[in-house]
Amino acid sequence: MSEPLLEVVGLSAGHGDAVVLEDVSFTLERGEALALLGRNGMGKTTLLTTLMGLTRVHGGTMRFAGRDLAAAPSHARDLVAMPTHARARAGLGWVPQEREIFPSLTVEENLTAVDVGGRWSLERIWSMFPRLKDRRANMGGQLSGGEQQMLAIARALMLDPALLLLDEPMEGLAPLIVQELFRIIREMTRSGDLAVILVEQHAHQILPLTDRALVLERGRVVHLGDSAPLVEDPHRLDRWLGVAGAPTLGDMPAETTP
Ligand SMILES: Nc1ncnc2c1ncn2[C@@H]1O[C@H](COP(=O)(O)OP(=O)(O)O)[C@@H](O)[C@H]1O
Ligand SMILES: [Mg+2]
Repeated sequence: MSEPLLEVVGLSAGHGDAVVLEDVSFTLERGEALALLGRNGMGKTTLLTTLMGLTRVHGGTMRFAGRDLAAAPSHARDLVAMPTHARARAGLGWVPQEREIFPSLTVEENLTAVDVGGRWSLERIWSMFPRLKDRRANMGGQLSGGEQQMLAIARALMLDPALLLLDEPMEGLAPLIVQELFRIIREMTRSGDLAVILVEQHAHQILPLTDRALVLERGRVVHLGDSAPLVEDPHRLDRWLGVAGAPTLGDMPAETTP
């Protein structure tokens, strides 16, 4: 069998001396979609920023696309840790919780500014994000929150990632935009050539879009398994997520079958 796209083994990391993630291990295959779940403050964002090289790694290993992102401290970790921009070039795409776009460039300029000539041409972006196509001449700063989120995702795609990290992309958006983002994320996860780690508070909404689910509790992995059984029995998530994991009436996306 070929090497997984991402292999995290015994990872401990945090902010300064505070250790947030403890002994986190998981793998991700090419094209696979992983739901990263857990209540507020459990370490989801820290795991994504650790993959991007923005936290302090205390131990463990991360291999991405055949390269070590950080080796164990005994191997002079600080000397070999790959810088964030190099991780992006190696194929790690990241859409942070605070949608970062260029407000004084047009939508189209936001995209062409980062075009690396990869698999996501402007045409392919326009067909996936028709709303952005309509707004192509508008300044980034003139867009609604939902449109800015779409632009942030589209921009990450222009960098041609093998793995896209999405941190609560639906947070604070209007229901209509949320439905549109579901469609976009569903298209991305089914395209087969893009792996996705998707952080979301509302587990039941994203489980149908993902292959597997990882649940963090106080920085530790308390569950890692296929998403399908959790879709059929969402209350299994209650013990880790409380009410956030359970569906409420009329809250399911309209089309969830794979
Ligand atoms: N920049 C930071 N400096 C210090 N502590 C942080 C920082 N960011 C997050 N934390 C702490 O790390 C823990 C995990 O936070 P986070 O990864 O943001 O959780 P989640 O994304 O699951 O809500 C929390 O206790 C939080 O207070
Ligand atoms: Mg977070």
